[in-house]
Amino acid sequence: MAESIQVSTFLSKEQKYQSLWPQLQALVQGEDDFIANLANICAALKSGMQFFWVGFYFVKKNALKEELVLGPFQGTVACTRISKGKGVCGSCWEKREIQLVPDVSKFEGHIACSSESKSEIVLPAFNAQGEVFLVLDVDSDKLNDFDEVDRTFLEMLMRLLEKLPR
Ligand code: SME
Repeated sequence: MAESIQVSTFLSKEQKYQSLWPQLQALVQGEDDFIANLANICAALKSGMQFFWVGFYFVKKNALKEELVLGPFQGTVACTRISKGKGVCGSCWEKREIQLVPDVSKFEGHIACSSESKSEIVLPAFNAQGEVFLVLDVDSDKLNDFDEVDRTFLEMLMRLLEKLPR
C-alpha cells in the first residue's frame, strides 16, 4: 500500500518541490508500469503543489497522422487530441522546447479546455532517438503562476521520466 504524499502547504514553492522530489522518486521506484507511474505522479503533483490541472499527453502515430493523445491527468475534463503545433502542448511538441505561458489569452492558438486556466507550463520528454514522446502540461487558474523554479524542478522530473521503463 502506497503512503500518501506529505507536503506542507506553509512551505514556499521551492521548498514544496524539494519536499516532493524524494517522494516522487520513491513513488516510481521498482514499478515498471509507465502508465501507473504517470498516474501517480499526477496525483502527487496535484496534491503536493495544489496545481489546478496537471497531466500528460502521449505522441501517438499511425499511418495517417501523428497527434498528442491525453494520458493520465488530475483535474477537469480535458481535450483528448491535439495536433502538432496547435495550442501550447502542440507547440512544445513541434518546437521541442519548454513553453512557459504567463497569460494563455495572449498565446495565439491556445486551446481552452477550461475557461479557468490562466497560465501554464508545458515540458517535453525525449526518447532514445531524441524524439518527443510525451509532454507534461501544468495549468493554473492564476495569471503568471509559473517561473524558473517550476521550470527547474519539472525539467528534472522529465529527465527522470525518460529513464523509467515503458
Ligand atoms: N492548454 C493546452 C490544452 C490542454 S488543456 O488545457 C488540459 C494547450 O493549449 O495546449
